[in-house]
Amino acid sequence: TKDRNGVDQVVLRNKRGDSARVSLYGGQVLSWKNERGEELLFTSSKAIFSPPKAVRGGIPICFPQFGNRGTLEQHGFARNKMWVIDDNPPPHPSTDSNVKSYIDLLLKSSEEDLKIWPHSFGFRLRVCLAADGHLTLISRIRNVNSKPFSFSFAYHTYFSISDISEVRVEGLETLDYLDNLHNKERFTEQGDALTFESEVDRVYLDSSNKVDILDHERKRTLGIRKEGLPDIVVWNPWEKKSKTMVDLGDEEYKQMLCVDGAAVEKPITLKPGEEWTGRLDLSVVPST
Ligand code: BG6
Repeated sequence: TKDRNGVDQVVLRNKRGDSARVSLYGGQVLSWKNERGEELLFTSSKAIFSPPKAVRGGIPICFPQFGNRGTLEQHGFARNKMWVIDDNPPPHPSTDSNVKSYIDLLLKSSEEDLKIWPHSFGFRLRVCLAADGHLTLISRIRNVNSKPFSFSFAYHTYFSISDISEVRVEGLETLDYLDNLHNKERFTEQGDALTFESEVDRVYLDSSNKVDILDHERKRTLGIRKEGLPDIVVWNPWEKKSKTMVDLGDEEYKQMLCVDGAAVEKPITLKPGEEWTGRLDLSVVPST
């Protein structure tokens, strides 16, 4: 399928009826629905679907830089590039051949990228929708240069939630975090689960691989599992910041929460020929 700007999108489905939609623009997952057709990711009604702006919602890939921690544009260039489909990807373990349930997208450094970030890389992003509805993103980044390079990374995941004031996040208790709202200073999380009553923009350090968003109103828990991604970014712009964002409705912050599997504090360094893998696994389970 194509979006309204003619950009190709690929829809993955499993037998049960879950689905996911991936855009070649940014290699960005824009939709993930359960078998009842309920959308689990947030996309702004004001999202802009054309370059040079990244789409506000879904799962933008932040690479080779997270945020403004470097000289590149905010969150790096990967989310603003056209990716290509690998028509002949390596096989995926346990994939049902009757159902198109995974896709590999590729990004390589262009001449233009090399001017601002002079490191040749190969990036393979696999998006996989499992038979049980799990959505898995696997990024493999290879150094195809003759010198080492370093990068930071995030799966900037916008979850769709009932109401920011009602949800809580479990799995980050007692962790240290860097607070982007306080000059990236380091604090320690004190309470139980995280709840929200104002703007949040934090990088939780060295989190366990299990973080959950509990949404009582929607009677479901969104599960985030990760490998190769030590940190978790938590972001909600709240009321005031939302009003300054052209591609986010004034009230939409209530229906979204970003919880990103990320590698931010300690950049990943790859020697020539080395490859890094960062894996994110999302699931949704009913709760009472
Ligand atoms: C978050 C950052 O991950 O992304 C925030 O921590 C930032 O500081 C937000 O505002 C959105 O970034 P952007 O570039 O998509 O507007």
